[in-house]
Amino acid sequence: MRVPVKIRAANRDDLESLIGALGPDHHEFFAGRYPLQEKGLGEILLAFEDDGPVGGVFLSWDLATEPEIRRHLAGVPMIFHLHVAPARRHHGVGRALLRQAEANLRARGHEQVLLGVDKSNRVARDLYLWLGYVQPAEPDLRDLRATPEPGARDHAVGDTYDILVADLDRTVPLWS
Ligand SMILES: CC(C)(COP(=O)(O)OP(=O)(O)OC[C@H]1O[C@@H](n2cnc3c(N)ncnc32)[C@H](O)[C@@H]1OP(=O)(O)O)[C@@H](O)C(=O)NCCC(=O)NCCS
Repeated sequence: MRVPVKIRAANRDDLESLIGALGPDHHEFFAGRYPLQEKGLGEILLAFEDDGPVGGVFLSWDLATEPEIRRHLAGVPMIFHLHVAPARRHHGVGRALLRQAEANLRARGHEQVLLGVDKSNRVARDLYLWLGYVQPAEPDLRDLRATPEPGARDHAVGDTYDILVADLDRTVPLWS
């Protein structure tokens, strides 16, 4: 079932209800992104249903920390920490967040986007591939060593991750 969601940039007042929806593990990640948003280095997007936030994601156009990304994909903005409240999954919220994230990046003049996905994260990986994300050919953009990220406990500890990229002007008939 698809339910309408409203997507907008987060403000400081949203943090408490966001953490209420996603769980306390996510506090450190999102609280740490507000200063970056305020410095103009990125944007926190939240998805709302009637009762409040049900998901979030962070877009960054800051310098990547990974040297491999700086080498091969310099200047490509990044999507981090796409997360939907467990009870609200499989209703199109993740896809809606990605669609808005991509639209906002396009509006800023970007032509591509990248993200990292854990090897073991089948659900997210399938979603990205289905939406047209691809794995670049460069071997050093695969099997990167995951740094533990707050709120990412559903992922296997010690997992590695791969970088996926998408052209922002690709056709995605599956968005709707
Ligand atoms: C990954 C995550 C954000 C997806 O959120 P979601 O709101 O459930 O995603 P959506 O409902 O928009 O999209 C899932 C849909 O994509 C479609 N889809 C994905 N892969 C597909 C495929 N291979 N073929 C056809 N449809 C596919 C399906 O319609 C699927 O719906 P379903 O789950 O009911 O089968 C969510 O599972 C989550 O928060 N996971 C934990 C955090 C996480 O792993 N984040 C990713 C970090 S990289």
